[in-house]
Amino acid sequence: MSDFLLINGPNLNLLGSREPDVYGADRLEDIELRCVELAKSLGHSLASYQSNAEHELIDRVHQAARDGVDFIILNPGAFTHTSIALRDAFLAVQIPFIEIHLSNTFAREEFRHNSYFSDIASSCLFGFGAYGYELAVQAASQYVAKAEG
Ligand code: DQA
Repeated sequence: MSDFLLINGPNLNLLGSREPDVYGADRLEDIELRCVELAKSLGHSLASYQSNAEHELIDRVHQAARDGVDFIILNPGAFTHTSIALRDAFLAVQIPFIEIHLSNTFAREEFRHNSYFSDIASSCLFGFGAYGYELAVQAASQYVAKAEG
């Protein structure tokens, strides 16, 4: 059994009401619940965390290292395109992670095309909407199974 952590960044607490044409109608609580259930069915535990504050996200990543979290699923929200500090937190703790975005950021404004996370993530998911989170849990399960050999 492995411990997964799902981290969502700024404004993702508003999922369901925020630009539903871009991000879909599912609320974050529903997505988190589905991920917990799916992780459980695959034999793992999943905790979730959301914050709008960069330093809180960084602190949560540090905490994950202290707790021995095995894998992180990360949607950094707009910090994707700005946060060297959050990137450095992932480099510091060396916990493998998947970068996920509901929307296909490459099909949107040019400022969304750059990510400070894609080159250090174990894999990336863009544009699958809320379903992408379930794909990420499946992928996390595969990753830890492979790592265990
Ligand atoms: C997002 C894409 C980001 O560009 C945006 O700032 C978000 C959501 C996504 O999931 O598609 O907040 O990460």
